[in-house]
Amino acid sequence: MSKHSAVAVCLPGIEKICEAELLALGIKKTHAFKGGVNFTCSARQLYAINVWLRTATRVLVRVARFDAYNWDEMTSGLDMVDWDAYLTKRQAVRLRVSSSSSRLYHTDGIAERVAKHLNVKQANEGDLAGVETEHQLLVVRVSHNQFTVSVDTSGEALHRRGWRQAIAKAPLRETVAAAMLISSGWQADTPLFDPFCGSGTIAIEAARTARGIAPGADRNFAFQNWPTFAPGTWASVKAEIGQTATDQPLGIVIMGSDRDAGAIQAAQANAERAGVASDVTFVRQSVSDAKSSSFADSATGTTPAAGALVTNPPYGIRIQGGDMRNLYSRLGQVARSEFPGWTLTMLGTDAKTIGHTGVRLAEQFATRAGAHSVSCVSGAISTETPPA
Ligand SMILES: C[S@@+](CC[C@H](N)C(=O)[O-])C[C@H]1O[C@@H](n2cnc3c(N)ncnc32)[C@H](O)[C@@H]1O
Repeated sequence: MSKHSAVAVCLPGIEKICEAELLALGIKKTHAFKGGVNFTCSARQLYAINVWLRTATRVLVRVARFDAYNWDEMTSGLDMVDWDAYLTKRQAVRLRVSSSSSRLYHTDGIAERVAKHLNVKQANEGDLAGVETEHQLLVVRVSHNQFTVSVDTSGEALHRRGWRQAIAKAPLRETVAAAMLISSGWQADTPLFDPFCGSGTIAIEAARTARGIAPGADRNFAFQNWPTFAPGTWASVKAEIGQTATDQPLGIVIMGSDRDAGAIQAAQANAERAGVASDVTFVRQSVSDAKSSSFADSATGTTPAAGALVTNPPYGIRIQGGDMRNLYSRLGQVARSEFPGWTLTMLGTDAKTIGHTGVRLAEQFATRAGAHSVSCVSGAISTETPPA
């Protein structure tokens, strides 16, 4: 069985989480580096990994590595690849080229020559809206005159699960929400609460995890357009997706709340599309009004002793109606008074602001969210306030 040399590309900072996911999916040898994880896999694993990885942005296969100081050497290197395995004749390609410290440095020129040599049309940005999966992405990286050529297997970025169409302010990438849930240590048989839920990303990602729904269950991938695509293998991966998903009630409360009515509407619409509308409760309320009684067992009335608050509060200096210090300290007060024994996992831009929660929190990973450098911190909620 032929093996692919592959790389799972992820946001810098979450490589180790992505690597652990790959190992859990049965990949034997992995190597994490800044922004990705290298590994080898079979075609079946390649399909399954696209479907199951929660934290990767995309998966590429490396098809060539060669030195080239001029165009002739570049085209000879390209000729070593069996392009018929990946490209259909009439398909347009997108080329993503980077070059540093190399003789061939003009990235547009490299892209043009590669497309011409492969006799394929280059898709321009105007062609891309909504049809990313139809344009095969090729990634060419040149560093110190060494070319690394990769073929994308994913198509649309993997954080686009397909269900988040309604967005509120500052939506979180699904991959970061997944990384937060994994590093929170949340167990899918315990309750989960996001008191700043916005469009519901964290709560919906959690509900789909608890339900055993693969993150990529509802979407297509670039490898499905390859001439070498194996429908039988794909059918067996799809059959497995069907088997892992449960249709039984989850038996836990997963809740998102936000003070913004538009956010709650967006979250509900997203949950509907994600197939978990009956698993997640979205409530319009301020963080100050959050109550542990919302998580009480309907039969016994008792509130679970363990659960997870996983959240992405607003960032920035000032927000409507107060400053961050007040908001973070409100979050901390609510956590300590209503949810002792639970864990708090949150994103924040700086230790000082996060410190206003008064909950002892340790950094799990640091990454980027939109324009912000953010840190994901987590810790057990106790009734005691740590010394300032
Ligand atoms: C960074 S956004 C969360 C984005 C969310 N993770 C998503 O993926 O869409 C922060 C949210 O906090 C909400 N918010 C701000 N102040 C609040 C408060 N005092 N109580 C509850 N929600 C609040 C905002 O309406 C906003 O939706």
